[in-house]
Amino acid sequence: MTDGVSIRREGALQAIRFARPEKKNAITAAMYDAMTEALDAAGHDDGVAVSVFLGAPETFTAGNDIGDFMRAASEGRHGEAGVRFIKALARSERPLMAGVDGLAVGIGTTMLMHCDYVLATPRAVLRAPFTALGLLPEAASSLMGPRLMGHARAFELLVMGRDMDAEAAKAAGLVNAIVPAAALEQSLLDAARALAGMPREAVLTARRLLKGDPAENLARIDKETALFAERMRSPEAQAAFQAFMRKGQK
Ligand code: COA
Repeated sequence: MTDGVSIRREGALQAIRFARPEKKNAITAAMYDAMTEALDAAGHDDGVAVSVFLGAPETFTAGNDIGDFMRAASEGRHGEAGVRFIKALARSERPLMAGVDGLAVGIGTTMLMHCDYVLATPRAVLRAPFTALGLLPEAASSLMGPRLMGHARAFELLVMGRDMDAEAAKAAGLVNAIVPAAALEQSLLDAARALAGMPREAVLTARRLLKGDPAENLARIDKETALFAERMRSPEAQAAFQAFMRKGQK
């Protein structure tokens, strides 16, 4: 257990749970590194059939830790740990599943595009406030988003930064099914266990065929990252980060 994220093997499942409720599960560099290591390790471990992501009741995650963003920008960096995590998702050889209750902000939303199966509760809200923060959509969402849900819906979510509720997320193809909050974890784990019980090589090969070559998404991540790094240092982003941090001091 790294501070802020719990990573456990449960039979053939790798369960990754955001566990920083006091900060709405905002993701720090240490949390990204722990998750990246776990995903990479799962890819080399025949005992792991599927990785599942879960948050806390009413909060999946508030996205990247904004304090980390500020520190990275002031040191001329751009959140490298987050990029390593995104790339680990994009090249994951194991199926990825997620259960979303409450808010999924920023990468909490874009990471779902890399998942193979997503359950949400009626109170799930997907939010991608990248441009409001002076930033840009990441995690290859600028490529996967329009392909998945069409330009209009992707623009509304990723550029206008409008909230997407559970029903809209299901209609957009980001969510497989909506389940009551009390049933979320069990439903997700049941689905993961059922998948884990299927012929492993057939599942992995079928998934590879459905997903296609990850190179295109990885190349888009590099392109987004170069532009994102510039945006992090922009006056627009600096002002937005400071406004958020000031809010916490009031
Ligand atoms: N980074 C760092 N800290 C965060 C955070 C983030 N992304 N999101 C929430 N927190 C912290 C708050 O600063 C606050 O800390 P404090 O108690 O020490 O002041 C704590 O988590 C609770 O957040 P708060 O804003 O008081 O809760 P809320 O229920 O009013 O609002 C959110 C929840 C998620 C809507 C709001 O916190 C928010 O908008 N967070 C920023 C999300 C974001 O822009 N992420 C980056 C995407 S690229």
